[in-house]
Amino acid sequence: MIFKKEILAAFMIITAVGLRAQKAVPVYLDDSRQIEERVQDALSRMTVAEKIGIIHAQSKFSSPGVQRLGIPGIWCTDGPHGIRPDVLWDEWEQAGATNDSCVAFPALTCLAATWNPEMSKIYGESIGEEARYRNKNVLLGPGVNIYRTPLNGRNFEYMGEDPYLTSQMVVPYIQGVQGNGVAACVKHYALNNQEADRDHINVLVDDRALHEIYLPGFKAAVKDGGAWSIMPGYNKYNGEHACENPTLLLDILKGDWGFDGVAISDWGAVHNTDKVAQNGLDMEFGSWTNGLNWGASNAYDDYYLAKPYEKLILEGKLPMKDLDDKAARVLRLIMRTEMNRNRPYGSLNSDEHYAAARRIGGEGIVLLKNDNKVLPIATGTKKILVVGENAIKMMTVGGGSSSLKVQRETLPLDGIKKAAAAKGIDVVYERGYVGDVSGEYNGVKTGQDLSENRSADQLIADAVNAAKDADMVIFIGGLNKSDHQDAEGVDRSDFSLPYQQDKVIEALAAANPNIVVVNLTGNAYSMPWIDKVPGIVQGWYIGSESGNAIADVLFGDVNPSGKLPMTFAKSLTDYAAHATGDTEMYPGVDGDVKYKEGLDIGYRYTDKLKKDRINYAFGHGLSYTTFKIGQPVASSKSYDGNGTITVTIPVTNTGEVNGSEVVQLYVRDEKSSVYRPYKELKAFGKVNLAPGETTDLHLTLDKDAFAFYNPTTNMWTVEPGKFQLLIGNSSDNIGYKLPIDMTKSLSWKD
Ligand code: BGC
Repeated sequence: MIFKKEILAAFMIITAVGLRAQKAVPVYLDDSRQIEERVQDALSRMTVAEKIGIIHAQSKFSSPGVQRLGIPGIWCTDGPHGIRPDVLWDEWEQAGATNDSCVAFPALTCLAATWNPEMSKIYGESIGEEARYRNKNVLLGPGVNIYRTPLNGRNFEYMGEDPYLTSQMVVPYIQGVQGNGVAACVKHYALNNQEADRDHINVLVDDRALHEIYLPGFKAAVKDGGAWSIMPGYNKYNGEHACENPTLLLDILKGDWGFDGVAISDWGAVHNTDKVAQNGLDMEFGSWTNGLNWGASNAYDDYYLAKPYEKLILEGKLPMKDLDDKAARVLRLIMRTEMNRNRPYGSLNSDEHYAAARRIGGEGIVLLKNDNKVLPIATGTKKILVVGENAIKMMTVGGGSSSLKVQRETLPLDGIKKAAAAKGIDVVYERGYVGDVSGEYNGVKTGQDLSENRSADQLIADAVNAAKDADMVIFIGGLNKSDHQDAEGVDRSDFSLPYQQDKVIEALAAANPNIVVVNLTGNAYSMPWIDKVPGIVQGWYIGSESGNAIADVLFGDVNPSGKLPMTFAKSLTDYAAHATGDTEMYPGVDGDVKYKEGLDIGYRYTDKLKKDRINYAFGHGLSYTTFKIGQPVASSKSYDGNGTITVTIPVTNTGEVNGSEVVQLYVRDEKSSVYRPYKELKAFGKVNLAPGETTDLHLTLDKDAFAFYNPTTNMWTVEPGKFQLLIGNSSDNIGYKLPIDMTKSLSWKD
């Protein structure tokens, strides 16, 4: 009996303690509750000062939580290709940590070139794990601004010229990141398509181009990817800065798309308390200000959304509801990330992350030209000459905020040497030209000594001599991450390769016709030597595994399957923004840049030109095997907009090695009451096939595939009539045209 009594007493104590404990846990800390309930509970306990406290920065990359309530703050990190090293509290310089090196993943242009959403998933999961391990809860990426001009210095951080491809690729990246309890911050919302005058340039664009070209990537990120944060950029749209723009933030993002996350200003992109308080921005970062004095230190209290905002709230001049909304969004983000106790722990510099970087890199490399099967490198090759600065230059340091401090980076020359050694091939190297010998960004040093004493002529002469003595020449050049190349803050100054590389390539081709040109860039460029070289490879910036991924493709261990995510036109004037040399269209006049070309971006424009105006089309990319795309069959010949249409396409590997092909489906409206581009990408799929194997690829279309944005009604609109489905393996290689009748007229809101 006594025993039973003791048990009962103990039970009562435990229950009482349990009840007390349960009662004592405030709702906002109880993660078995719905997040909304927790957010509202936390908000109801906060003072105005605490609400103000959480909506602006306290250091270069962090914001405070609410200490009194035990709510942690936010730590952001760039993004988008790897986790940036830690900087000092109030400086861009390195904090000097020894545990903040990372794996650099391929640049987003390379990811887009895989045309494989599965690669985006792996990318997002891997980079999300690195962010999580480093205790960052907002990753400043991915970037989805559209490739309007090849001069844009930041194109390498984005996913190319097509809104559909960008939309498909961005969603799995975000989901992969956020699966780690780390918020993706999609940038730079919106119309940040050039770096020239980026802080103030005012973009004037028509509504169709806005909705059909420039917004779909962001819309997909928000509606399909469920992004927890977004970064309004530096530029203006229709006279208002993006961070203060009610159309972009209130009407479209939070209204039409129902965004429930946090709009985080780009660093220093806020200009006015009244506007930023009321027009939809939620958090302010990076202002260099105590009232716009450049360089004031620890000026966080003077931020537009700090004391100045608090004062206006306390004086009753600005409504509390807007502050509550901002604070609630920030709390929601904290609960989704830092206060989510179920999130995984992450990992850093793991073998899996290197493997992911190498795989994505290999799959994104694009084989542009391969005459006489110059690639893969033939068995029997005895000696390879590698020429070019980009073969020996670390490319992960520099370029702006995406600069990284890598744990390791395999350089192209080293990757090639390693693979060649395994096959008994000798590799010799010649510089060929000198480009950018610097190797430091914000205190991260490559440690490379790239100094060179030979004259430009001597460098070419030495390379040419060595070329005569080699079985094969591999030129590795392109752009780099220094100013006016692929770099943040400034645009390129012209379309050609710098440092007289054209001259070097021509001299090498004359000395040894067995030459392959591999260019590492985030942008298209002119190729005056295109007919003089049998092999051209687009290598992008691949990050830590650059050398290995390039060697994998050159030696045939990976069969290339990348496709261009942007048009490689012949000259700058073959891009609509530059077609007439109108400076109002680029870089802008008196602060305005006018997107007069409307929808005609990339192939939408070059489809109107003679074929010889492009070097390599959007969607182009070769393989070491061959494919046959068989007769596609649509599930129906007419469509009323209900449900979906499926197109079944048999694809056969008709060559001798395993390989992957990307089948692309473009929709063409034969007759429309408004201008429509000749064709637009609306579906694609990638299949991997063994030699001789055939598989059916199924591509699905819904009503979105046939719609245009009607600026009069602000509705997506489909007009009845004849359409065509154009199917091929590149935008300039369409093998099939299937007619399809739209039987109804449709319209709907976002
Ligand atoms: C860039 C952003 C970046 C931020 C923080 C800005 O200058 O435009 O992309 O995330 O700095 O480094």
